Amino acid sequence: MYDMSLTEEENLMIQSVKEFTQTTIAPAVKEIDISGEFPWDIVNKLIDLGLHAMPVPAEYGGPGLSSVMSAILAEELAKGCPGIATTVGANGLTSYPILLTGTEAQKKLYFDLLMSGKLAAFCLTEPNAGSDAGAVATTAVKEGGEYVLNGQKTFITNGGVAGVYTVFATQDKSKGIKGLSAFIVERDRPGISVGKEENKMGIRASNTTDVFLENVRIPADHLLGKEGEGFKIAMQTLDKARPIVGAISVGLSQAALDASIKYSKERQQFGKPICANQALQFMLADMAIQTEAARWLVHRACYLIDAGLPYGKESAIAKTFASDTAMKVTTDAVQIFGGYGYSRDYPIEKMMRDAKIMQIFEGTNQVQRMVIAGQLLR
Ligand code: CAA
Repeated sequence: MYDMSLTEEENLMIQSVKEFTQTTIAPAVKEIDISGEFPWDIVNKLIDLGLHAMPVPAEYGGPGLSSVMSAILAEELAKGCPGIATTVGANGLTSYPILLTGTEAQKKLYFDLLMSGKLAAFCLTEPNAGSDAGAVATTAVKEGGEYVLNGQKTFITNGGVAGVYTVFATQDKSKGIKGLSAFIVERDRPGISVGKEENKMGIRASNTTDVFLENVRIPADHLLGKEGEGFKIAMQTLDKARPIVGAISVGLSQAALDASIKYSKERQQFGKPICANQALQFMLADMAIQTEAARWLVHRACYLIDAGLPYGKESAIAKTFASDTAMKVTTDAVQIFGGYGYSRDYPIEKMMRDAKIMQIFEGTNQVQRMVIAGQLLR
């Protein structure tokens, strides 16, 4: 049923991203993790390669990658640094509302910005609208040929480094989710400011900030879809984007497994390498089983997206299983490394810190289970 064979060109691209991860990303991650500074030098190289705009179609100057390819490349980047993979993933997430509902003029506006080297941010979450995404309080008021936006967005990936946002705002709070609309908002419009940057436990290469909108005026043609369609657009977007969180999680699991295999062969205790112990072999085997299963769930969800088949439930399943797996596999890796795994001198504890957010963002794994159960019981 699934034909996910890759072309020669795609295989070459995967190989070059593998090399980029090993030669450019991997040597820098420790320093970035300590400083928490946004790695513009590396991100600019990814921009030069067009990898910040994976789903942007070729007719708009992008690489036009399939979902399966985007997932494979996200996994490769995440093997080096899940924070950098998240920066790239957030650009994809922000692009989906435009791909799903944008007019020709909106696609040109937004993709031109992206292809000129700008990053993007998806501004849905607010202090009081997290899992309850429909509770957005940012307002959009129509005034003549413009909308005026006011509100606060929080935990925005790429918030402080993006050149363009997709913003979700309510036009009528009494209408609940039916009052929400979605807009393209360029970063340089007067009234936009970036708030505090989160000092995060993990994915410290990724930029996460508040974004404030104070009487921000945008032309009426920046409305995506129709007024009142914002919630639906947000949900459809997240359905498409969640497998990429799964793919980043798989990259983390694979990196933790690979490091564990290497270490367990080198580390000697009781006169033999620790991998000679069956208890440890079974841990490695379980880590491999879970990582492989997660990868196939991610690829299946992406295949369904590419084939134009229903994918909402499969996307939520992939994100949930892959991120729960990343948490478990990286925790097991710390266990295998023992005291060294707990030390900041080794790269393993960072993987465990990076894995945790995968269970939280783009919809907590509890929300994913609501989505899955909702579809099972429909
Ligand atoms: N596609 C299309 N329509 C959908 C849909 C989907 N996937 N899911 C729901 N809808 C529609 C429903 O059909 C329904 O429409 P009608 O009223 O016309 O029947 C409507 O939306 C309401 O559906 P629900 O009753 O299921 O909505 P809800 O209020 O109970 O919320 C929820 C559902 C799944 C919990 C949703 O609020 C949700 O996904 N929350 C999590 C939000 C989230 O993922 N945030 C992450 C922010 S982005 C991020 O993290 C980025 C980052 O930094 C990396």
